[in-house]
Amino acid sequence: MGLKHNIDLSVNIGKLKLKNPIITASGTFGYADEFDEYIDVSSLGAIVTKGITLEPWKGNPQPRVQDVNNGLINRIGLENMGIYSFIEQKLPILRKKNISFIINIAGSSEEEYVKLAKISQDNSIEAIELNLSCPNVKQGCLEFGKDPDTLYRLVSSIREVYQGTLIAKLTSNISYPAQMAELVQKAGADAISAINTVKAMHVSLNCNNNKFEKTIIQGGLSGPAIKPISLSFINEIRPVVDIPIIGMGGITYVQDVLEFLSVGANALQIGTANFTHPTISEQLVDDLGEILIKNNKKSLKEMF
Ligand SMILES: Cc1cc2nc3c(=O)[nH]c(=O)nc-3n(C[C@H](O)[C@H](O)[C@H](O)COP(=O)(O)O)c2cc1C
Repeated sequence: MGLKHNIDLSVNIGKLKLKNPIITASGTFGYADEFDEYIDVSSLGAIVTKGITLEPWKGNPQPRVQDVNNGLINRIGLENMGIYSFIEQKLPILRKKNISFIINIAGSSEEEYVKLAKISQDNSIEAIELNLSCPNVKQGCLEFGKDPDTLYRLVSSIREVYQGTLIAKLTSNISYPAQMAELVQKAGADAISAINTVKAMHVSLNCNNNKFEKTIIQGGLSGPAIKPISLSFINEIRPVVDIPIIGMGGITYVQDVLEFLSVGANALQIGTANFTHPTISEQLVDDLGEILIKNNKKSLKEMF
């Protein structure tokens, strides 16, 4: 396919200079080489790797995903190879690809996050995104992103050891998004990603001999079903921060991209849509350029 226009779609996220605002979301695009057969990955603004932990994680047993109306519930459980294998096996491949990439990191304690950030710094990784939906094992398994003090301390400690672009990915499962957004900016984040999946549950009932048998799957909901939640979240945090916001949640069509930009997102991540439309992210770059041309705009900055 390739870029069909030469409109300026560039956007800066911290020190990262992206050629366009279309980024693929963590956990839905592997380490990028999985998508080489579908698209020219270098046409994207950036890619975010799947969540990486200090040690390899096996993830949860099957079933791990469940289709629901307009969305997907996943309970993958962060299966990944661990940072050391990532650096050895995947980082050299990513570096050859001529793309901007962001490493999504996940820890079960503050020390783990700080170690991951330090390793990223030592290996000149340009940008990290903090998955703040992870449970803090030391503090009773409450998500890091849910407690203001824990969140502030975590982001500040990471900022102390990491000089690249630091992106805080907020959980949507909170009552005061604006307060959390303000805190991460104050703690030194260069940008905010919003939102991670929404806590959800699927129930299937089977009737056997006049008795209902219930099977449940609990996990994180993604896809078009969460777009209204994400738009509302971004609309709420935009007035209180001046750092860039990377919006996501069900983005599938260029209309979705425009809606997120209109409420204050500066860049977008495409997640679940990659599973059903593996070429979608590249398509969105083209479609966005065409919308600008149709509306006589020379750059993204003129759009809203
Ligand atoms: C299968 C799957 C795996 C995911 N893994 C991660 C992950 O490792 N780290 C993370 O921060 N977010 C992860 N996410 C969340 C997405 O990056 C994104 O925030 C969310 O799905 C909302 O975007 P979407 O509706 O476009 O999918 C995952 C989502 C899915 C569907």
